[in-house]
Amino acid sequence: MQQKIDISQIKEKLEIACSTILLPGDFHAALVPAINEYTSMLFELAGINSESDEQRTDIFTHTGKAIGPFWAAACVREVLRTQRFCRGIYEAVKDCLVKQTTKPIQVIYAGTGPLAALAIPTMMQFRPNQVQFTLLEINPVSYAKLQQLLTILDLNAYVKEFVLADAATWKVTDTADIVVSETMNGGLRNEPQIAIMLNLASQLPENTLLIPEEITVALATPRKENEPLLLKELGRFNKESYREIIAGSNADKWSFKEVVYEPDEEIGSKLMLTTNITVYKTDKLGYNDCSLTLPYRVKGDFNEAKTLKFAYKLSEQTGFNVYAG
Ligand SMILES: C[S@@+](CC[C@H](N)C(=O)[O-])C[C@H]1O[C@@H](n2cnc3c(N)ncnc32)[C@H](O)[C@@H]1O
Repeated sequence: MQQKIDISQIKEKLEIACSTILLPGDFHAALVPAINEYTSMLFELAGINSESDEQRTDIFTHTGKAIGPFWAAACVREVLRTQRFCRGIYEAVKDCLVKQTTKPIQVIYAGTGPLAALAIPTMMQFRPNQVQFTLLEINPVSYAKLQQLLTILDLNAYVKEFVLADAATWKVTDTADIVVSETMNGGLRNEPQIAIMLNLASQLPENTLLIPEEITVALATPRKENEPLLLKELGRFNKESYREIIAGSNADKWSFKEVVYEPDEEIGSKLMLTTNITVYKTDKLGYNDCSLTLPYRVKGDFNEAKTLKFAYKLSEQTGFNVYAG
């Protein structure tokens, strides 16, 4: 009985935090307190511990790094990232529900971490007969913690399936209306976002919504008081370009077009990659909004270079490789 009362109080607080996170607008006075409240509730219920070795251990696959449970949980603190992704998923489900009312909207969420922090606000806004989640995670500690968390919060009715698997190779078992993944870093380096999206998009109908809808990475050079000056777009990843990559690749081995940049003046050594994300419709993340869109320095000295070639490669150190010519 005591446990029930506590949980209903926690859920009340959680509902307030989640509704605040979903409010319209870019930044508002209630946003940071709501994210802080959301973070501390989820951390406590899931037993997130910064001192635990197993929670700090990353997993490496042939398409990139899966960050450990503590690091994955810590992403929730990134205010604008969490706001835009939570709201993007909520808006996408709402849009799908306009067209389809007879069965639940199916969402595949790849890389949940131990908290599925991007999905909980949507669960709190709909009924289980309106939205169902397939929750995919590669890390067994995160996978177990998430099940514990959703059981405590009594949210299992929203879960079609918990899957412990590599989302970059997992075989889809059913169709989905929406795919969500936030497994990325600035410059699309290290983590397997693109490999995951390609794997899932290659198995799902063309009208499946992909969240983020678009990620662009550009070569840029810093300017004193302004945003970096864009020199060349290196990659634009969206539904159309995923289809092109899928059509031009052998199964399981995605190939990406090389991009050549020919500078018209000396470029020096200060090159960087900038990242822009359209999460869904008007929910976007731009320059410096969060760690995903921080500029990332391209290592090397390109003073003598006449051309620079950029090639995106999937590996344990996924990212854009640069070759000077
Ligand atoms: C950046 S964290 C994001 C956590 C959470 N979705 C959030 O946004 O707050 C990425 C999560 O994706 C998981 N992940 C990374 N690569 C994966 C893969 N190939 N298959 C399944 N999960 C993966 C990591 O283990 C980690 O929990």
